[in-house]
Amino acid sequence: MNAEMMRSDSHHTDYVLGDSAHELQRLIRQSALYADLTESFLRNAGISEGMRVLDVGCGPGCVSLLAGRLVGATGVVTGLDKSPQALALARNRANAEHLYHVEFVQGDLADLECINTYDALIGRFVLMFLQNPSHILKQLSQHIRRGGIVAFQEMDISAARPEPATPLLKQCGAWIQETFLHAKVDIQMGARLHKTFIEAGLTPPQMQLQAKLGGALDCQVLEYLTDIATSLLPIMERNGTATTETVQIETLATRLKQEMLLSGGILILPSLIGAWSKLPV
Ligand SMILES: C[S@@+](CC[C@H](N)C(=O)[O-])C[C@H]1O[C@@H](n2cnc3c(N)ncnc32)[C@H](O)[C@@H]1O
Repeated sequence: MNAEMMRSDSHHTDYVLGDSAHELQRLIRQSALYADLTESFLRNAGISEGMRVLDVGCGPGCVSLLAGRLVGATGVVTGLDKSPQALALARNRANAEHLYHVEFVQGDLADLECINTYDALIGRFVLMFLQNPSHILKQLSQHIRRGGIVAFQEMDISAARPEPATPLLKQCGAWIQETFLHAKVDIQMGARLHKTFIEAGLTPPQMQLQAKLGGALDCQVLEYLTDIATSLLPIMERNGTATTETVQIETLATRLKQEMLLSGGILILPSLIGAWSKLPV
């Protein structure tokens, strides 16, 4: 099957988060945080036993592995990503879990040549990085059979906020948003999924909204924030958003925790918005 899906070299857009060892492990930690939300999304979208699923922008394979468990050994999941480092990690993880029906292929989803037909096209946190998501979604949907499913889960980062809005938490959120905006990432992609599906020629999608949130003693929300700040720090420095001196990454988690303990507040992480449509029969 891998030979049937080929990589074209004509599209090489920069992907802002890159594929450093830290970033790939961050994606795995992020996935652990969101696993229950993504699993319920995939189930609601209709991913079920025996299906053939294409997961685009799979990274180190977290969503592909989730889908692999849902479709079982009678199904197939193909994870596609342009990063060889991410794919090597994804393959190791699938082997370690004995999910031999989950395979990974290198390619650019903007330029996919594929003669397979799948029952479902899925993706998470990937359309937000594309410059023309509806056009690419339309192209990708051509690899799905009639009556098949298209399902994407994306973030609305603009919905993230501390409550109350204390200074360091606000500042940290602003650094992250500014860095993404500078890199032309659509931080409201989740909220634009409905429009994107329709522009791609799909039927108006069913949708769901979910979020994670927690206080200072819930180490996951603060880890999430400092983890992404660590991945983005070199880019923040390059584009002038912040410097290592202002961010002080080594002590950031401790200072954020102290601020939250003092305020007794919570941090609401980006909304996760899911959308899914069925292709006409
Ligand atoms: C934020 S990560 C999400 C990974 C995974 N879907 C998840 O939810 O954990 C985005 C992934 O999309 C991949 N990606 C971005 N643009 C791509 C493109 N044009 N073609 C293929 N992969 C792409 C990146 O390499 C990265 O692994």
